Amino acid sequence: MLGRDLLGVLGEASAVGLSRKDLDITDASAAITACEGFDVVVNCAAYTAVDEAESHKESAFTVNHTGARNLARAAHQSGATLIQVSTDYVFDGTSTTPYRVDAPTNPLSVYGASKLAGEHAVFEENPDSSIIVRTSWLYGQHGTSFPRSILTAGRDREYLEVVDDQVGQPTWTRDVANMLDQLIGAKVHSGIFHATNEGRASWFEFAQKLFDLAGWDSDGCSPPKLRCSHVLPIVQRGRCSTIANGRIMACNPLAHGNQRSMTHGNLASPHLCLPNRHHDQESKPRPGCCRL
Ligand SMILES: NC(=O)c1ccc[n+]([C@@H]2O[C@H](COP(=O)([O-])OP(=O)(O)OC[C@H]3O[C@@H](n4cnc5c(N)ncnc54)[C@H](OP(=O)(O)O)[C@@H]3O)[C@@H](O)[C@H]2O)c1
Repeated sequence: MLGRDLLGVLGEASAVGLSRKDLDITDASAAITACEGFDVVVNCAAYTAVDEAESHKESAFTVNHTGARNLARAAHQSGATLIQVSTDYVFDGTSTTPYRVDAPTNPLSVYGASKLAGEHAVFEENPDSSIIVRTSWLYGQHGTSFPRSILTAGRDREYLEVVDDQVGQPTWTRDVANMLDQLIGAKVHSGIFHATNEGRASWFEFAQKLFDLAGWDSDGCSPPKLRCSHVLPIVQRGRCSTIANGRIMACNPLAHGNQRSMTHGNLASPHLCLPNRHHDQESKPRPGCCRL
């Protein structure tokens, strides 16, 4: 999701995007070959299945820790700066104020722990030329994300249950891509940065906003009814997972203009249109409740 937007922002004339079939980041020697000749390497690859990671700890760590370490080592060998994208899940979400870049980490989930191990590994391998960029609750044009899932589910269900006891910062991948571009342009070589959109919302509030923007009625379809629910205990997640994004704005004041808030329209992106309704759904009653 983020990688494709970043490539779009940087432009194919100045950047090369590699998918998993081009480079498996868990392959150390392939990483060295792939990084040769580049000034900056941005690692957007990750094991991102947060729930599944609880029962696939080794896979999560292999990609998020070993893979990040391989790229840091490879970047070091070729004299490149590595930008490692990380997550708010390195924090425990118990703070009542947004986490600053230097706040103590304490991941609650396997995914968060594996991403934190990746952060430590890149600084160990390449301390002078490694940047950590933590972001949160990504959604974007490409790939799977909450808006697409919930709007699709809304097509199929009469009721949806969405949790309201977890708060975070929904963040548009295109904005993170622009922030990464600015970081690269500013020739920063090390440090930790937080890159999120402004504002905060629970998943329930996020869903409500999406439904407001979705234009259901104009599409001949009434929105499903939303109900609040509480977090299912598949994986321990922080209740209030917001990170202070001051540092990236300090890096380049122009980035200030790129900070968007939920109430100022980034959810109205044209990329977030309702998924097409299947023809045979027109006449079928939508089944009961779905929990997201
Ligand atoms: N999504 C979020 O809400 C969120 C929030 C905070 C931080 N982040 C971080 O932001 C970054 C980008 O996230 P995203 O949501 O854009 O991720 P994404 O859409 O899940 O994409 C991750 C990519 O990594 C690739 N990948 C997985 N294992 C690999 C391997 N061994 N070698 C090479 N590529 C591999 C995947 O390939 P396949 O498609 O072949 O599996 C996929 O293309 C990640 O570091 C993530 O931890 C994400």
